[in-house]
Amino acid sequence: MAPARNSDDLAHMRVDYSGPAVELTEDACAAGWRPMFESWLAAAIEGGVSEPNAMVLATIGDDGLPATRTVLCKGLSDTGIAFYTNYESGKGRHLAARPVASATFVWASIARQVTFRGDVSRVPEAVSDEYWEQRPRGARLGAWASEQSNPIGSRTELDAKLSQVEERFAKVDDIPRPLGWGGFEITPRTVEFWQGRTNRLHDRIRLTRTTDGWDVTRLQP
Ligand SMILES: Cc1cc2nc3c(=O)[nH]c(=O)nc-3n(C[C@H](O)[C@H](O)[C@H](O)COP(=O)(O)O)c2cc1C
Repeated sequence: MAPARNSDDLAHMRVDYSGPAVELTEDACAAGWRPMFESWLAAAIEGGVSEPNAMVLATIGDDGLPATRTVLCKGLSDTGIAFYTNYESGKGRHLAARPVASATFVWASIARQVTFRGDVSRVPEAVSDEYWEQRPRGARLGAWASEQSNPIGSRTELDAKLSQVEERFAKVDDIPRPLGWGGFEITPRTVEFWQGRTNRLHDRIRLTRTTDGWDVTRLQP
């Protein structure tokens, strides 16, 4: 097999982050990751980033290879960030075996990125219930219909599964949460903030959890 070759089209794609220079400073991160992350998330929302709560979640598969996919961050607390999924999905199985993950928010249009790395645990059942209550009926039916990440023969079969679920819950107003569906929380050991700057001399600040707070380190870009 030939190694990957450079493509002229791709090789010429280059954005210089020369817009208004927003300096990312050690001082701004002194109070820990949460205030900083919340202010950047607010800026991403204000800046019109599409799905600003989307993050690329990396887990470790049974084969030892990293596996990534996008999920939506649905909660934030002093202990970490939460997302919801099927506990029997690929990621659910990975996290049961190896409860560690990395998650990256990519906000390319405002030249920012934030990466969390840490330990993963299930959120309490009551917290999953609370989020489930906010999900529209269609999303609830979808969660019941899909054995996420398992193979299926055809789209027709999947649509048939949805029809069965619709029939099953036809007379139920408040569709309950499937037991195999709920939240995970990533409790970060490190959080890295990245701000694009000119000439590829970007700002990178990494916060590392210590016994009594956060160690703040600037990294070379
Ligand atoms: C923008 C976006 C948001 C997504 N949000 C979620 C989510 O919050 N939870 C989820 O289980 N899957 C979500 N998905 C689908 C996942 O990326 C993935 O396909 C699915 O969870 C199965 O992954 P797995 O087989 O690795 O478990 C999202 C996909 C996209 C593109």
